[in-house]
Amino acid sequence: MSNKKIFVTQPSLAPLEEYVEILRGVWERGILTHNGPLVQQLEKDLESKLGLDYFTVVSNGTIAIQMAIKALELKGEIITTPFTWVATVSAIKWEECTPVFCDIDPDTLNMDPAKIEALITDKTVAIMPVHVFGNPCDVEAIAAIAQKHGLKVIYDAAHAIGSTYKGNSLLTYGDISATSLHATKLLNTAEGGGCITTDAALDARLKRIRFFGHDENKDIVEDGFNGKLTEVHAALGLANLKYYDEVLEDRKNKYQYYIERLQEVEGVRFQEVKGGETNYSYFPIIFESEEQLLQVEKALNAADIFPRRYFYPSVNTYTKVVAYQACPVSEDISERILCLPLYLNLKEGEQDKICEIINTL
Ligand SMILES: Cc1ncc(COP(=O)(O)O)c(C=O)c1O
Repeated sequence: MSNKKIFVTQPSLAPLEEYVEILRGVWERGILTHNGPLVQQLEKDLESKLGLDYFTVVSNGTIAIQMAIKALELKGEIITTPFTWVATVSAIKWEECTPVFCDIDPDTLNMDPAKIEALITDKTVAIMPVHVFGNPCDVEAIAAIAQKHGLKVIYDAAHAIGSTYKGNSLLTYGDISATSLHATKLLNTAEGGGCITTDAALDARLKRIRFFGHDENKDIVEDGFNGKLTEVHAALGLANLKYYDEVLEDRKNKYQYYIERLQEVEGVRFQEVKGGETNYSYFPIIFESEEQLLQVEKALNAADIFPRRYFYPSVNTYTKVVAYQACPVSEDISERILCLPLYLNLKEGEQDKICEIINTL
């Protein structure tokens, strides 16, 4: 086997010639942005592929969260999870809302619905859970709590393209789902993201916000900003979308291959999927202790294999940007979780090598 470095992920990319072929049209038309034909095509294709009513593509997943907050006119406290990427919380803060951290379920790694109600105050306006690693949240329990207290639900669905719940795309749940099409995601446009909703009026508003607040008559009718995706990025999304099923299937097979080879390792467990189906986009393993994790990480690094401590540290501990609120489960898990390499071009022999190193420690 070659001695090339193995990183936690690599982007899934369509053959270059196919991307170039789509770009040819961009050059011919001379339209690079402003809701061009490829952006519109990508939205239509994503809607039909995933079974969604409205998918508004935007420049990245962080902007998608900010646009969701803006479109729902939220001002106040938003209950979210500390077991996430910092973007969830920075988006809340950029929209001048206050993040309130709800601890997670130690098995699913998602926000624990049983802990939400105790955090609701007269300032609470919304719940923003994350489908962590594509693992579906308990969307029904969360919807019931939101309805009871008159709160909005925005899902940070950055990881969740391809995940399903009761046969539907997971992105159909909540008032708005905000997803990411970043290079590391199952489907990518290099940088990119999207807001998904079932509400036509809300979707029209999201599209106005994305484009400086313009309506169809070029009147400024909203407090918008620039959230547009370019034609060059949309072209990459269209090229990659052709391979989406293959990428999804491949992830599932490799995920199961890891489980089979690692299930006997003492002191190791995996994320539990309790409802719906994950998209198998990450392969996190949870160790009994940080010491065990560090030992495994060191041994893998010595073999030029670079897994990633993700999410680490727990976002509630970023005290330079948030006021600390204790979330003992998230703080504990984040110290002992490691995401193993998982991507389309990862070879079976490479997976075997990773498993062998972990198994022999
Ligand atoms: C949970 C979560 N939310 C939000 C984001 C932000 O997405 P983007 O990088 O497209 O801005 C990420 C990025 O990886 C993420 O992991």
